[in-house]
Parts: sequence; structure tokens; C-alpha cells
Amino acid sequence: MVESAGDVRAEDIVFDPPAEFAAQAVATADLYARAAADRLGFWADQARSLLHWHAPFTEVLDWSDAPFARWFGDGRLNVAYNCLDRHVLAGHGDRVALLWEGEPGDSRRITYAELTAEVKRAANLLTALGVEAGDRVAIYLPMIPEAIIAMLAVARIGAVHSVVFGGFSAESLRARIEDAEAKLVITADGGWRRGKVSPLKPAVDAALAGGGTTVEKVLVVKRAWDDSEQLAWTDGRDLWWHEELAQVDWEHEAQPFEAENPLFILYTSGTTGKPKGIFHTSGGYLTQSAYTHRNVFDLHPDRDVYWCTADVGWVTGHTYVVYGPLANGATSVIYEGTPDAPKPGRWWALIEKYGVTQLYTAPTAIRSFMKAGREIPQQYDLSSLRLLGSVGEPINPEAWLWYREVIGGGRTPVVDTWWQTETGAIMVSPLPGVTAAKPGSAQVPLPGIVVDVLDDTGAPVGRNESGLLAIPEPWPSMLRGIWGDPHRFHETYWSRFSDGPSGPVYFAGDGARRDHDGDIWLLGRVDDVMNVAGHRLSTAEIESALVSHPWVAEAAVVGASDETTGQAVVAFVIPRARHADEAAREGGVDELRAHVASSIGPIARPRELFLVNELPKTRSGKIMRRLLRDAAEGRELGDTTTLTDATVMKAIADRVRH
Ligand code: WTA
Repeated sequence: MVESAGDVRAEDIVFDPPAEFAAQAVATADLYARAAADRLGFWADQARSLLHWHAPFTEVLDWSDAPFARWFGDGRLNVAYNCLDRHVLAGHGDRVALLWEGEPGDSRRITYAELTAEVKRAANLLTALGVEAGDRVAIYLPMIPEAIIAMLAVARIGAVHSVVFGGFSAESLRARIEDAEAKLVITADGGWRRGKVSPLKPAVDAALAGGGTTVEKVLVVKRAWDDSEQLAWTDGRDLWWHEELAQVDWEHEAQPFEAENPLFILYTSGTTGKPKGIFHTSGGYLTQSAYTHRNVFDLHPDRDVYWCTADVGWVTGHTYVVYGPLANGATSVIYEGTPDAPKPGRWWALIEKYGVTQLYTAPTAIRSFMKAGREIPQQYDLSSLRLLGSVGEPINPEAWLWYREVIGGGRTPVVDTWWQTETGAIMVSPLPGVTAAKPGSAQVPLPGIVVDVLDDTGAPVGRNESGLLAIPEPWPSMLRGIWGDPHRFHETYWSRFSDGPSGPVYFAGDGARRDHDGDIWLLGRVDDVMNVAGHRLSTAEIESALVSHPWVAEAAVVGASDETTGQAVVAFVIPRARHADEAAREGGVDELRAHVASSIGPIARPRELFLVNELPKTRSGKIMRRLLRDAAEGRELGDTTTLTDATVMKAIADRVRH
């Protein structure tokens, strides 16, 4: 939880949209009235005006099988055609789609005509490899243009992509490949991070080792090494992307698919150890992606240079690097590496070099820039920026104000956008030319979206009260399910509240507060999901990684507040008696931390790990994470009366203090 979200003073600071900005703004106040007057009609208008339909829809929403929604169900479209061909046909083939820069400083400038051609050829390759509509393709790539080309090629032939973040381990990759039953994996030899090659292909080899998966072929993009001798190669399975592409045709005609044709699966952490395959479909997802991208970021596609810093391995990369911007014909910057390579200030150098007009990033990044000092961004010309966005975790008012002043030169609107992998696109956000902005608050649902803050009984909270964020009306880019697990879909999202007037009510898993104006302030997760540097991690998943180590008998993990990353992973571990000495010797704790990094990925590595003799448990055996969080954050311990043994917590708190 971010304490400052409740800071009363912050609520009273308000920035009106600059008059000049408002005068040219894409989104105007009448959107709210139009959406309120006829919500479904409003979405139908958006779908028709923002997208090309090969066959128009007549039905907007079918919610009769709730919570399984169908949007624009009898319409047909091709997602890749909407992101590519139609812009070329409209005469924008020479417009730059991607301004890509690799970490070592190499760069590529790809127009809509070029990107369309590349995607057509890649679509032919997928077909030649036997991929058909509905098949799943796993994509495990660095931030290079081929990641976007691969996603769009999969979409173009009506297949389903499952992008796995390059920072995930071989084990995590295998679990995702198995769950989705992927037929093909698209990877690279490696990518560049912090001046070094971060290998990817070896992790794919490890993930597929021993066979037993549905994967038939592995396509490998050559990115990192000139000398590929270093790569292990499985003949008959592994193929070079560039060699295979050279064999296929450049011409490809996009076929229409049903609006509800699955587009992608994206795995995200839940409250159990097993990641959930959130799955999205085509027409509704693309409508809301394009609508939000255009209105929230005030996109003027003919003159803007937009940059979303997210990796395509996360939902923000799907919706606001790939589908939203390309559906809108935007020009985007894509950067492969880290913000501090080869030295701090790389991001600001990119903004200066490309004349970036909109920047969309996460509070964690902003806080780490704050810590490094304003002297760094001040060495660059950032005057091209005219709008800043934030996403992924609550942004504290201090970071919001710093972002606006130091990066935005005190001129730019800042939009704090709340949404989730499950919602597919932005749900709560100011409109930059309309809403008077409050630092630290996501404020209001977008036109066409209905969001509520409910108490435990499902009744709406009043002003100045907190509760749970809920969505009582279906929305176009909503998840259509958890891949292969309809039961978990019901349980996780639709059973927390009783049905409302429109049917089931969606439970987001976030706490929220309404201020005296009714504006929404996000308060962090209310379940066992942590948000570390804007990445979702589950306590249960890290606990199960820990207990898979031979030294570990039991483990409990909490998200403790962290100045830079929002939350940080803190683990409490009971070693097995016969391994207690090994765990306690020098380096033992680091080995356990490293074990988590290798089982899940470096982002999950605990910031701290404490060896303890016991964990605080209730009489029914449930671990009291709240108390562990108090201890990890150095707070006075809360109520310990429900513990079986109250001295346990005192011992743990003493351990943490040392
Ligand atoms: C959190 C990322 C506060 C929230 C798009 C949500 C936020 C989770 C915000 C989803 C925001 C995202 N303010 N919290 N503006 N945006 N969150 O699925 O806890 O990676 O439930 O999607 O991030 O994370 P996910």
C-alpha cells in the first residue's frame, strides 16, 4: 500500500489542463455524455470508426452467458490488417511505424509499408511451418522489431500468441508452453542488457529438454552473436528465422476472422502458485486498445512520436506498444535495453534524439530517476514532450509531481492509468484535455467504462471511504477467460460480490478509496499478489519455488513496501533440521535467493530472506502474512492474539531488526 494515497493534502493539489492543450485535444468532455446516454451504442460507434471490419457486426454485446462475454460477435475482422495494411492503403505507407534502437546503439526505422511487408512474409512462414488458426505460438524475444513482427504474423493467420517475458526462467517458460500447448516457439539467440548479451535460446533448450511438450519447431532470430558457434542446435527442430523467411513469399492476403477469435494468452500471477493464462479475443480488445490509446494519450498520429517503455512480455507492451499504437497508425519508439546503459540518461537521450511527444512508463522507473537526481535529465532537451503517462502501480504524489516538473517541464498533463492484464486496456484515467488532474489519483472511469468502489457487503462506499475496486458492467477488452480453467475464472473474478443489475460483478483485487470529490485513489492489492517494480508476482509462487529447494522445510513470502520498487519480496524460511547449518553458513541465504531467481526469473529474487525457526500461524494453521509484513517493514507488531504462539512473532521481529 502506498501511504501517500491517503494523504489529504495531495488531494487538494489540482492541475487544470493547459488551455493550449485542451484546445487541440482529441478527447473532449462530450465523450462522457455520449457514453452515458447509450453505452453500447457508444462502443459500437468506436468499433466502427476506429477499425476496419471485413464483415460488419449487428450485435454489440451478448452477455447472456455471463461472465463469458461476446462483443461485436457476428462481425469479422483481421487484427493485423487493422494494424498494417489499411494504413498503407490509406496512403500512409511511408509513415514510420517503429523507431527502434538497440542497446548497443544500432537502430532501425521501419515504415508502415515495410512493417506490413515483413508481417506478410512472416505469416507465410508460419503457415509453411504448419501453424493454423487457433494454434498457439510461444514468443520469447527481446525488445527487437521481430517481437512485434512475430506477434502480428501470428494474429494475421488467426493463431494465438503467448508472449513470455525474456526475464522468465526456463522453468517458467516450460510451464507456459505446456499450459498453452504451444506448437512453435519463436526466440532469439539473445538480447542486449547492460552491455552484455542476455541469452535466450539456451533457456528454450532447457525448457524443452527431455521432450514431452507439443512444440514441433523453434524459430531463432539472430540478434546477439555474430558467431553462433556458441549455440546448441537441435537439427530438425531449430530453424533460423532469417533463413526460413528467405524461402517464402512476400505476398499474403489477410483473411477475416470472427470478432471473438482468440488473439493472445498472457500469463499473470494470481493467488496460487500456478500462473493464470489470461486470454483475450480480437474485435473488442482491439476496439478498446485503439480507443484508449487515442484518447488517453491524445494521439495525433500525423505528428506525434509516442513511446511506451514497457516490454512486450507484459500486457502494457501488448496493448500500448503493439496493438493500440499500430491500430491508430502511430509512430512509436522501441528501445531494447535498460535506462542506464551505457550510462544513466539513456532514456532522455532517446527522447531528445527522436523528439518523443508522449512518454508512458511505470512509477518504479520514475522513482529511481528521482533518486539518481534531476541533474541527469536536465542535461537533455525534453521540450518535445507534451504528455506523460504512468501505469502498473500506485504513483505517490511526490513522484507524480517530480515527473510533471522535471520531465514534463511543468507543462505537460500527466495521466495515471489504472488497468490490468485482465482488463486488457485502460479503465480508469483522467482525459488529458478535460480532467483537472490530481497527483496520485487515477480519478475517473473512462467514457464507456463503469467502475465502482464497494464495501465488503457489495454496497458502494461513500465519499472519503475505502473499499474494493469492482467493475459492474462488461467492457469490450475484458478477458474472456483463464485458458483451460473456467472454474478458476469464476472463482477468482466473479464470485466475490453477488450479482448486480447487469449480472456478475468483476472483482479486481485492488483496494481503492473515493475522495471528497468521488475521485478514485488506488491503494494496492488486497490479495496475495505483490507488485514489485510494476510486475505482478504471487507470494504462493515464490513460496513454492523456495520449498522446492532441498534445504527448505517451509516458507512465507510477503511484499514489503520499498521506496523505489513500490513493493519488494521479503521471504521467511524455516530450514530443514539436517540442512540448517548449510543454510546458515555464509552465502547460504544468497543461494536460496538465487534459487528463486533461477526457478522463476530474476524479478522474483527476494530482496531479503530471513531464516527463522517458526512462522506465525493462526490456530487453523494459516500463516499470518500481515504480521510478517509488519516485521519486514519494521513496524510495531499488530494484533498477535490469534496466534498459536505469540512469542514466535517477537523472535522474528528481533531477527529482522538485526
Ligand atoms: C496495479 C498492468 C495503481 C494494480 C497494466 C493492478 C495500478 C495491477 C495502476 C495489474 C495504477 C496497475 N495505479 N495500481 N495506475 N495500474 N496497477 O496485470 O494492482 O501487470 O491490479 O497490469 O497493477 O498489473 P498487470
